[in-house]
Amino acid sequence: MKLRDTIAGKLEALERQNLRRRVRTVETPCSPHIRIENRELLAFCSNDYLGLANHPALVEAMAEGARRYGVGSGAAHLVSGHSRAHALLEEQLAALLSPWIPQARALFFCTGYMANLAVTPALIEAGDAASKKSGRTIFADALNHASLIDATRLARDAEVTEYPHADVAALGAALAQSDAGHKLIVTDTVFSMDGDIAPLPELARLAEQHDAWLIVDDAHGFGVLGENGCGALEHFNLRSEHIVYTGTLGKAAGVAGAFVVAHETVIEWLLQRARTYLFTTASPPAVAHTVSRSLELIAGEEGRQRRARLAENIRHFRMQLQTLRWSLLPSPTAIQPLIVGSNGAALAAAQALDHAGLWVPAIRPPTVPTGTARLRIALSAAHTQDDIDRLCAALVTAEQEAN
Ligand SMILES: Cc1ncc(COP(=O)(O)O)c(C=O)c1O
Repeated sequence: MKLRDTIAGKLEALERQNLRRRVRTVETPCSPHIRIENRELLAFCSNDYLGLANHPALVEAMAEGARRYGVGSGAAHLVSGHSRAHALLEEQLAALLSPWIPQARALFFCTGYMANLAVTPALIEAGDAASKKSGRTIFADALNHASLIDATRLARDAEVTEYPHADVAALGAALAQSDAGHKLIVTDTVFSMDGDIAPLPELARLAEQHDAWLIVDDAHGFGVLGENGCGALEHFNLRSEHIVYTGTLGKAAGVAGAFVVAHETVIEWLLQRARTYLFTTASPPAVAHTVSRSLELIAGEEGRQRRARLAENIRHFRMQLQTLRWSLLPSPTAIQPLIVGSNGAALAAAQALDHAGLWVPAIRPPTVPTGTARLRIALSAAHTQDDIDRLCAALVTAEQEAN
């Protein structure tokens, strides 16, 4: 069949460019030590930064949630799918973020991807069409996550201006030149493939100066950054009416789902307009029940200890890799990217690590710019220092073998 042959040809082209992706099936719970395809591997690829995904208290909370609420929500939130567990979780999330978001209210989504797809188009639609300057412009960091990029594509009434990564001066100039009446600045907080943190205080200052919304995606900061794990806003102690905050709950929180916290008026608007909230079945209440328990762990002594262990693991890892020629990006977070260069070289490095019993993913275009294929090393509080030492030794060997 000709149509199918075309697809097969495209797959072969991906294979030739070392861009074909494959799924691997894990037999054991999420943890640094996993079994996959009958092999034991030491993994540095999950976003379970605090090691909560298989925490006994959360496994028990999921079981208890299922006993109390059943396993499915049965409908969308605005029909009959919004359970007491969802409502309690939203209250908990709003209270957590309220020091930094005035009159905070929260909305829980099934995934971070869906939360991000909702926010930008809904806020673009909320622009004042009667304004003399009727233009609507989104100012987006060049390295934003795919879900934020797709959200700008869905905001069809808006122009998109991409500013160079984390470049406050360039963004300031673009905002000053713009005559749009309605402006949104959109950024990751912790960049998912680079590990660096956006200059949020400066972005908030620009948002206030230019009367723009500042949409921040804290997928990789929530749970990890800040004294109490409240994320990037706590990290910078940044409070602003202009911020619309999204966080995910399947990464450091160890469960699933995501949320938006913003001024209650914004959340009420999202409730009317967020298509990925309105037109999808609410996630199982047991998930929300489990996330509530996870938030308690994150905010408590256990969360503090795990964040301290993660920080120590990051320090220990970076200290050992000073002399590597592959370039380790200057990341202060759990995401530690090692730039290898070509797609083939990154794949070969990942394969060498695999032979040594380590799972570190090779990240290639289009996820990262061409020529910057990399190993994305994700550290967790659940790794021991022995785990990190093993990784560092294997990286040194892999680099030597590559020469
Ligand atoms: C920066 C960023 N935002 C959003 C998401 C999507 O979140 P979720 O996995 O909850 O859909 C991810 C990763 O998956 C991400 O890295």
